[in-house]
Amino acid sequence: KRINMVWRLFLCPLMGCVAPVFVQKGKDVLLDVDNVPEDFFLFVWIFDKESSSLVTFFPDGKSQISPTYTGRIDYSAKKKYSVILKNLQEKDSGVYTGRVTTLTVGGIILIQHNITVQDVVSPVQLEVNSVSNSSHSCNVTLTCSTADSHISSTFRCDSQKCDQDGGNQSKITNSSSTLEVYLWDVTVICKHRNQVSSTEDRTDIQHVCSQLIAFSKSFNLKAVVKGQLRFFDTWTLFIGVCMLIYSLRQTSCSSQFFRSHLDPTDVAALAGATAMER
Ligand SMILES: *[C@@H]1O[C@H](CO)[C@@H](O)[C@H](O)[C@H]1NC(C)=O
Ligand SMILES: *[C@@H]1O[C@H](CO)[C@@H](O)[C@H](O)[C@H]1NC(C)=O
Ligand SMILES: *[C@@H]1O[C@H](CO)[C@@H](O)[C@H](O)[C@H]1NC(C)=O
Ligand SMILES: *[C@@H]1O[C@H](CO)[C@@H](O)[C@H](O)[C@H]1NC(C)=O
Ligand SMILES: *[C@@H]1O[C@H](CO)[C@@H](O)[C@H](O)[C@H]1NC(C)=O
Repeated sequence: KRINMVWRLFLCPLMGCVAPVFVQKGKDVLLDVDNVPEDFFLFVWIFDKESSSLVTFFPDGKSQISPTYTGRIDYSAKKKYSVILKNLQEKDSGVYTGRVTTLTVGGIILIQHNITVQDVVSPVQLEVNSVSNSSHSCNVTLTCSTADSHISSTFRCDSQKCDQDGGNQSKITNSSSTLEVYLWDVTVICKHRNQVSSTEDRTDIQHVCSQLIAFSKSFNLKAVVKGQLRFFDTWTLFIGVCMLIYSLRQTSCSSQFFRSHLDPTDVAALAGATAMER
């Protein structure tokens, strides 16, 4: 969507092109138009690639759908000259032009829609080709395959982390979808996507490299440190509670002391003496 906007705002005016709109195969698309002049002679939707008209509007409010598009055009409920082209197939990809003819200016293009129809991408599968491991390292080669394409990629891991040979791997398939293999933490992800859909498969390297338990160990170190902290925390808490109990007992003892050895008048006298001293 963002690319589309950049295209529409900056690139298209420069290149004289029309921003592409991607539509999933089998879905419908609205051919939208505004500002059709009242005094038109003809308004027609044209599929540029075949120079064929889809539907023609006449000034008397009548319209005619071309035989090739019979059953494939719906009129928009909201806008008089906008139409819905239904059940798009790959061959429907191309530019659709809304062209108006007026008696005063002749024929002018009011709007163009550049439509690209894409099928949903095929599923992907990640498979392990080879594993070579030692006590401190593990190298794995995986292949990500889809219907008409594949990528092989090697990952080298030590006890700290994994790296992908050559970084992210990707390619454009024959059906102009993107196939890519990349590493996310210790998970290999294979993603197949186009503008309308996406599929993926993923594998945890730890499942493949058994000795990456060492790997988990390095992760667990943090947990161990945390555990020790918790251990110390417990001690601190324990000591704290002891001190609290101790001090509470002290105060209760001392108040007990005052209560038993001094009567209230003495306490008042004592308080008065202290005040006088000040
Ligand atoms: C339509 O969009 C495609 C990209 O999908 C682009 O290559 C092509 O130039 C555009 N056509 C026009 C006429 O703008
Ligand atoms: C994995 O690859 C690295 C770099 O090529 C190499 O040094 C290491 O020995 C390899 N490990 C194993 C177990 O094959
Ligand atoms: C290497 O991997 C194999 C199979 O997963 C396993 O049997 C073996 O113990 C591993 N070797 C080391 C050194 O971890
Ligand atoms: C992809 O396209 C190329 C060239 O058009 C062709 O040679 C190749 O066989 C195609 N691959 C598949 C898997 O269809
Ligand atoms: C690899 O690709 C993924 C997904 O497209 C992205 O999130 C990641 O940042 C990329 N990594 C590198 C090193 O380019």
